[in-house]
Amino acid sequence: MTDHRPCVQLNTGVQMPLLGLGTYRLQGREEIYQTVDAALTAGYRAFDTAAVYRNEADIGQALCTLLPKHGLSRADVFITTKLSPKDQGWKAKDGCLRSLEQLGLDYIDLFLIHWPGTQGLDVKDKQNPENRAQSWATLEEFHAEGKFRAIGVSNYTVKHMEELLKSCTVIPAVLQVEFHPRLVQRELRELCEKSGVCFQAYSSLGTGILLSDPLVLEIAERYGKTPAQVLLRWAVQQNIPVLPKSCQPNRLQENGCLFDFELSDGDMAMLSALDCREKFCWDPSLVL
Ligand SMILES: NC(=O)c1ccc[n+]([C@@H]2O[C@H](COP(=O)([O-])OP(=O)(O)OC[C@H]3O[C@@H](n4cnc5c(N)ncnc54)[C@H](OP(=O)(O)O)[C@@H]3O)[C@@H](O)[C@H]2O)c1
Repeated sequence: MTDHRPCVQLNTGVQMPLLGLGTYRLQGREEIYQTVDAALTAGYRAFDTAAVYRNEADIGQALCTLLPKHGLSRADVFITTKLSPKDQGWKAKDGCLRSLEQLGLDYIDLFLIHWPGTQGLDVKDKQNPENRAQSWATLEEFHAEGKFRAIGVSNYTVKHMEELLKSCTVIPAVLQVEFHPRLVQRELRELCEKSGVCFQAYSSLGTGILLSDPLVLEIAERYGKTPAQVLLRWAVQQNIPVLPKSCQPNRLQENGCLFDFELSDGDMAMLSALDCREKFCWDPSLVL
């Protein structure tokens, strides 16, 4: 088995694998079982889900069956899930308990607030900051009880992060945001570095679109690697954890083979120079 398990240390002391499996749009008990099985075989030890993905129960069930089959225990895997935007504010406690129940776990390794806004509220509604403060206080309680080993946020902008860092008791362990060569998020990364927050990438392949970028293709050919490997290597070489999603065993294997080659400084810089602030996912900048 290839060793895919280099980790980053979170500010709680917890180790988080640099490579995790993204599970957005992974649906159906059989497909989830097959994908988790193939991912464990390929060396993945981290899994990223969310209440809104509606697959927590099937992922929990698959892991429960598959961990013993792979000679692994709960402690060998790192499970991330996220609070639904509809559960922000006073509903947060129920949302947290539901995720634990759906996953069938006593504890979650990393629990994130998925989105700075609240579903059903206008992005400019003043209730948005109040709700996320209340959600954060709830996450801090679950963290204190040992039910969440680390807590963090997702899709927060610099403004949302500064507000949280000013008011929190527990400093977020992770900020998970969209990150790839066309969106290098300099300001957010600097803020995270300064504050001891681990910056984590999602949509590293640009949801698949960046796999046909001419520069990515050219670099891939020169290294004898695939475009996906170049994009993922570009992130992990900066010590940024990635969560590529695939339901195909050969791609899971391919996306996991990132630690046996290195991109030159020049190629890293050329990829970073593709930055044009292009987003393939949602844009949180308007959320008050
Ligand atoms: N916090 C958030 O708000 C947020 C938002 C978006 C994503 N995420 C997380 O990040 C994960 C990854 O992001 P993403 O799903 O948006 O996109 P992604 O990982 O950038 O791209 C996934 C797409 O690329 C394809 N693909 C994967 N590996 C490939 C390969 N080696 N060659 C060719 N095609 C390949 C997949 O298809 P196949 O499955 O058919 O292989 C899928 O269509 C999500 O699943 C989720 O866990 C979080």
